[in-house]
Amino acid sequence: MNLDQISRHGQKNKGDWIKVGMSTCGIAAGADKVLETLIKEKQERKIDILIEKCGCSGMCHAEPLVEVCVKGMPTVVYGRVDEETAIKIIDKHALGKYLLNDHIYNIKVN
Ligand code: FES
Repeated sequence: MNLDQISRHGQKNKGDWIKVGMSTCGIAAGADKVLETLIKEKQERKIDILIEKCGCSGMCHAEPLVEVCVKGMPTVVYGRVDEETAIKIIDKHALGKYLLNDHIYNIKVN
């Protein structure tokens, strides 16, 4: 990736985004199915949100982990996310603009 590509990638990241932890422990806990579900929901509903893989966060006990940053909301790390919870993240957090209290592991006020 050259500097122009890195710059464009950074600009692309200024919108809403979801990151799914794809470390070994995340994959073992089902992160690949969570990622697939989020991408499917994004495509079917034509939602303008970036969905990316990320690495280890040091919280194996809470995998699969999903970090969500949506304009006007705090950045939230959800843990123990399954496919059903992934759909709720799209429905309630990304579109409905409220938090899924049962799965919050960390909140960063933007
Ligand atoms: S090895 Fe599990 S979060 Fe890093």
